[in-house]
Amino acid sequence: MPGAAGWRSAAIRMLQPIRMRTLTLWLLPAWAALAQVPPATPTGSGYVGSNACKTCHADIWQPFFKNPHYKSIASGKESPEHTGCEGCHGPAQAHVTAGGGKNTIPRTFSLMSPERILNTCLDCHAKDLSRANIRRSEHTLNDVACTSCHSIHHSPTPKFLLAKQQNEMCYTCHTDVRGQFAMPHKHRVNEGFMQCSDCHNPHGSFDPTWSMGQRPRMMQQANTETPCLKCHIDKRGPFVFEHAPVRVEGCETCHFPHGSTNDRLLKRPVVFTVCLECHNGADDLGTRNNGVPLQTSRHNLFDPKFQKCTTCHVMIHGSNSDPYFLR
Ligand code: HEC
Ligand code: HEC
Ligand code: HEC
Ligand code: HEC
Ligand code: HEC
Ligand code: HEC
Ligand code: HEC
Ligand code: HEC
Ligand code: HEC
Ligand code: HEC
Repeated sequence: MPGAAGWRSAAIRMLQPIRMRTLTLWLLPAWAALAQVPPATPTGSGYVGSNACKTCHADIWQPFFKNPHYKSIASGKESPEHTGCEGCHGPAQAHVTAGGGKNTIPRTFSLMSPERILNTCLDCHAKDLSRANIRRSEHTLNDVACTSCHSIHHSPTPKFLLAKQQNEMCYTCHTDVRGQFAMPHKHRVNEGFMQCSDCHNPHGSFDPTWSMGQRPRMMQQANTETPCLKCHIDKRGPFVFEHAPVRVEGCETCHFPHGSTNDRLLKRPVVFTVCLECHNGADDLGTRNNGVPLQTSRHNLFDPKFQKCTTCHVMIHGSNSDPYFLR
C-alpha cells in the first residue's frame, strides 16, 4: 500500500496528459516568456532548473513570470543556486526523481524554523535590509520571520509580495493597534492616506538618534530624524528657542501617534494636563523643577483663561523669536 503522498504523486502522474492539454491555453503568457529563456541544464550538483517544476506545480509556475523572483530565470545569468525556484527551495533533483514529496527537497518552508527561513532569504536580501538591523529587530527576536509578512506565491499585493494588504496584515498580530486607529482622531491609515511603514520599518531599526534613551520601536529613520518630520516639516527647526522635550524626548512625549480622543492627538484630553506633567513644581526647591521651569506666579490656574496654555504659548514646538514660545 502506497502512503498518502505516494497516492497523490501517482495521481498527479496519471493526470499529467490531461492537465498539459487544458493548461496550454491559459499558460500561454508564461510560456511565451519562457520561450525566450534557454532551458536550464542539469549541472550534476543536484540542480535541475525551474522548467522541471512546471508540470507538477502548474498553479505556482503559471503566475510566476510576474513575480520579481522571475528575473533570475529571465536573465539566465545567475548561478543555479541563485536561479528561480531552486534559488529558494534548493537543488531539486532528488525531489523530481522521487516524483515529489515534502521531505525530498532541501527547503520546504512549511517545515522550516523561522531562523532558517530568515537565513535563506537574507542570502540574497542582506544588502537591501542591512540598514534595518534585522537580526536584532523585535520581530526577529520574537520568531516573526519573512514569511509571516510576505507570501511569495499567493500575495494579493503586486508590490512587495505582502501576505495581505499592509495594515490588515499588521493587525493580525497587533490587535490593540487596530483599536487605536479607530479613535475619533487619528492618522488615516485605515483610509489609505498613509501606512504603518511611513513611521515603522517592520524589518527593524537602530536606536534612534533623535530621542535619547528610548526603545527603537522599529521606527523609520530618514537622515537620522524622527519620521514625523517627513510630513510635519514646520516642526523640524532648528529653532532659536527650542522646547526641550520636542527634540530630546520626541513627539510621542505629548502625542499618541496612532490615535487619540484629543483632536491634536495629545496624550491627555486637555492641553494643560499635558503641560503640568512637567511644569508642576514637584520636587522643586527653587524656581525650577529639576531643570523644568515652573509657570510664573502670574499664571492663575483657577482662572479658566490660563487653562488653555497654547492660546498664549502658540509656538509650542519651538520659536525663532520668543523664549516663552508666545509668538
Ligand atoms: C523567493 C523564494 C521562492 C522562490 C523563488 C520560489 N518559492 Fe516556492 N515557496 C517559497 C515560500 C516562502 C513558500 C511557503 C509558502 C509561502 O510563503 O507562500 C513556498 C511554497 C511553495 C510550495 C508549496 C505550496 C504553496 O502553494 O505554498 C510549492 C509547491 C513551491 N513553493 C514551489 C515553487 C516553484 C515551482 C517555484 C518556481 C516557479 C518556486 N516555488 C519559487 C519561496 C519561494
Ligand atoms: C513529478 C512531479 C513533481 C515535480 C517535477 C516537482 N514536484 Fe514539487 N512536489 C510534488 C509533489 C507531489 C509534492 C508533495 C505535495 C504535498 O505533499 O502536499 C511536492 C512538494 C513540493 C514542495 C513542498 C511543498 C510544501 O508543502 O511546502 C516544494 C517546495 C516543491 N515541491 C518544489 C518543487 C520544485 C522547486 C520543483 C522543480 C525544481 C518541483 N517541486 C518539481 C511533485 C513534483
Ligand atoms: C513584520 C512584517 C515583515 C517581516 C517580518 C518582513 N517584512 Fe519585508 N516588508 C514588509 C513590509 C510591510 C514591506 C513594505 C514596506 C513599504 O511599504 O515600504 C516590506 C518590504 C520588503 C522588501 C522591499 C522593500 C525593501 O525594504 O527593500 C523586501 C526585499 C523585503 N521586504 C524582504 C524581506 C525579507 C527578506 C524578510 C526576512 C528576512 C522580510 N522582508 C521580513 C514587512 C515585513
Ligand atoms: C536567489 C536570491 C533570492 C532569494 C533566496 C530570495 N530573493 Fe527576494 N528577490 C530577489 C531578487 C533578485 C528580487 C528582485 C529585485 C528587483 O526587483 O530588483 C527579489 C525581490 C523580492 C521582493 C520584492 C521587492 C519589491 O520591491 O517588490 C520581496 C518582498 C522579496 N524578494 C522577498 C523575499 C523573501 C521573503 C525571500 C525568502 C523566502 C526571498 N525574497 C528570497 C532575490 C532573492
Ligand atoms: C504616524 C506615525 C505612525 C504610524 C502611521 C504608525 N505608528 Fe505605530 N508607533 C508610532 C510611534 C511613534 C510609536 C512609539 C510610541 C511610544 O513609544 O509611545 C509606535 C508604537 C507602535 C507599537 C508599539 C506599541 C507598544 O506599546 O509597545 C506597535 C506594535 C505599533 N506602533 C504598530 C503599528 C501598526 C501595526 C501600524 C499600522 C496599522 C502603526 N503602528 C502605524 C508611530 C506610528
Ligand atoms: C506574525 C505576527 C506579527 C506581524 C504580522 C507583525 N508583527 Fe509587529 N510584532 C510582533 C511581535 C511578536 C512583536 C514583539 C512583541 C510585542 O511587542 O508585542 C512585535 C513588535 C512590534 C513593534 C514594537 C517594537 C518595540 O520595540 O516594542 C512594532 C512597532 C511592530 N511590531 C510593528 C509592526 C508592523 C508595522 C507590522 C506590519 C508591517 C507588524 N508589526 C506585523 C508580531 C507581529
Ligand atoms: C506620511 C505623512 C505623516 C507622517 C509620517 C506623520 N504625520 Fe501626522 N499627520 C499627517 C496628516 C496628513 C495629518 C492630518 C490629519 C488627517 O490625516 O486627517 C496629520 C495629523 C497629525 C496631528 C493632528 C493635527 C491636526 O491638526 O489634526 C498630529 C498631532 C500629528 N499628525 C503628529 C504626528 C507625529 C507625532 C508623527 C510621528 C510619530 C506624525 N504625525 C507623522 C501626516 C503625517
Ligand atoms: C511638549 C509637548 C509636545 C511635543 C513634545 C510635541 N508636541 Fe505637537 N503639539 C503639542 C500641543 C500642546 C499641541 C496643540 C496645540 C494647540 O492647542 O493648538 C500640538 C499640536 C501639534 C500639531 C497640530 C497643530 C500644529 O501646530 O500643526 C502637530 C501636527 C504636531 N503637534 C506635531 C508634532 C510633532 C511632529 C512633534 C515632534 C517633532 C511634536 N508635535 C511634539 C505638544 C507637543
Ligand atoms: C516632557 C516635559 C515637558 C512637557 C510635557 C512640557 N514642557 Fe515646557 N519645558 C520643558 C523643559 C525641560 C523646558 C526647559 C528647557 C530649558 O531649560 O531650556 C521647558 C520650557 C518651557 C517654556 C520656556 C520657559 C523658559 O523659562 O525658558 C515654556 C513657556 C513651556 N515650556 C511651556 C510649556 C507648555 C505650555 C506645555 C504644554 C503644552 C509644556 N511646556 C509641556 C519640559 C516640558
Ligand atoms: C494668558 C496667556 C498665558 C496663558 C494662558 C499661559 N501662559 Fe505661560 N506665560 C505667559 C507669559 C506672557 C509668560 C512670560 C513670562 C512672564 O510673564 O513671567 C509665560 C511664561 C510661562 C513659563 C515660563 C516661566 C518662567 O519664568 O520661566 C512657563 C513654564 C509657562 N508659561 C507655562 C504655562 C502653562 C503650563 C500654561 C497652561 C497651564 C500657561 N503657561 C498658560 C502667558 C500665558
